[in-house]
Amino acid sequence: MKFKDSLISRRKFLNGVLGGWLAALGATIIQPVIKFIFPPYQEPEEVILPAAEYQLNQPNSFKVFRWGNKPGILKRNDDGSLTAFVAVCTHLDCNVTYLPEQRKFYCACHDGWYDEQGRNIAGPPPQPLRTLEIIEEGENIILRKREKSA
Ligand code: FES
Repeated sequence: MKFKDSLISRRKFLNGVLGGWLAALGATIIQPVIKFIFPPYQEPEEVILPAAEYQLNQPNSFKVFRWGNKPGILKRNDDGSLTAFVAVCTHLDCNVTYLPEQRKFYCACHDGWYDEQGRNIAGPPPQPLRTLEIIEEGENIILRKREKSA
């Protein structure tokens, strides 16, 4: 059967099918290469910090450390204890910063706020910041992943 006034010629149709097939093949080949170049984030089980470098003598003082390829914040509380946070927003994974003068964590992406204990208090973050287990051992501070944040 032949259509006299076809909207698309057979050649254009076959070129479109072939083009789509080639695009799908290209994506199938390129995707593992991109995954190799930019590997997915793998969270470390623990990080060891030299205690001398991360001495926080004043209450409300803090230092940033690396938690895998994400930032972390080690903070001295008013009672002298330490708290370690994964400084990644629980909304859409932007980095958060600690604002010591306001005693709050801030996420600039969507105006998210957390109090100094990492509890979400304003904006879109749905959960508190993740905290890490802290073990002070000799000259090291060992930070370990928790199954559930406290
Ligand atoms: S990513 Fe932090 S508020 Fe949206």
